[in-house]
Amino acid sequence: MGRAQICIVDDNATWLASLGRLIEDADLGDVVSYRHPAEALTSLRDRHPDVLLVDYAMPGMNGIELLTALHASGVSPRTPVALVAASLTDPIKLQAWQAGVMEVLPKSISGQEMALRLRNLIRMAAPPPTVEPAGGPPETAAASDAHSGDVANRSDVERSTRHILERLSALRDENTGKHTERMARYARAIAAALGCSTAQCQLMRDAAPLHDLGKIGIPDSVLGKAGALSSEEWDVMRRHTTIGHELLRDQTSPALQLGAEIALSHHERWDGTGYPLGLRGADIPLSGRIVALADVFDALTTVRPYKPAWLVEQAVERIVADSGTHFDPEVVRAFTASLERLLVIKAHYDGDEAYAPLVPLPH
Ligand SMILES: [Fe+2]
Repeated sequence: MGRAQICIVDDNATWLASLGRLIEDADLGDVVSYRHPAEALTSLRDRHPDVLLVDYAMPGMNGIELLTALHASGVSPRTPVALVAASLTDPIKLQAWQAGVMEVLPKSISGQEMALRLRNLIRMAAPPPTVEPAGGPPETAAASDAHSGDVANRSDVERSTRHILERLSALRDENTGKHTERMARYARAIAAALGCSTAQCQLMRDAAPLHDLGKIGIPDSVLGKAGALSSEEWDVMRRHTTIGHELLRDQTSPALQLGAEIALSHHERWDGTGYPLGLRGADIPLSGRIVALADVFDALTTVRPYKPAWLVEQAVERIVADSGTHFDPEVVRAFTASLERLLVIKAHYDGDEAYAPLVPLPH
């Protein structure tokens, strides 16, 4: 099976949008959504969704009536179904079980739990997945464009170029795991919490993995040095910002242009003590301020050769403490506001790294 097709039927547009984001963050599959049960009934006759997620209270027909009608119209009763409801009563639950529903979920469920339970439903529908290639979960053109709005016209050449550059960058990355992929998704979520448009958020996700591209110009003797760097060696290491900028700055693609900006600015600090330019406050491009935080959050919460993974609570505490010095206070606020979304992303990648625990949501 390719990517899972998840069909959602719910008359609440806000809920549909947030569930779509959650499914995208957790990389669970592609979403087809319907706001009217009658529309779903007509369309789903010809579709074969892998998982159905149906609201209970809808105008004209409740979720269980819809499900019964879908089965009568030819949708396989073996399709895993989750019923969601704002308020769940025992009679509703009993009707749901009788109709063959496999999950009954309150709408108050956390993003983490919703993502994990949906993932389990998808696994029931799917044969075992093939092994993913190195460098992150497969992101097909269709998946990449699914939520990209007006950036959907990116050319294949541009996308291929970006992926080659990401892989090149990963070759010089001392970190194991999927740091760049994960932090790019964090950056997109933080950009969304700051009110950036869907297209801007997708551009952030595309450009952020290029932040350390300049490391391909740093000698192994410095990049791979086991001990502490001398001050001369630090000077060399800091050049990865300007090298990355040089490599990308003349490109016309919006993602590569933004990549150039991020490469140059992701080690600047809000109080002006960063590098390479020592920019201060809003003089630092917003993209660099977002990636600076996403990069540090990922570094703190994952295992590195020199440290264990911190708990999310500890990482949040440190980042909040550094608001106004290292980080833009507005970006820190957006970060804390989007924590639940970040944890969904983290949980997706934790599954790929041995023994990385799921951490509780901070209060
Ligand atoms: Fe860097």
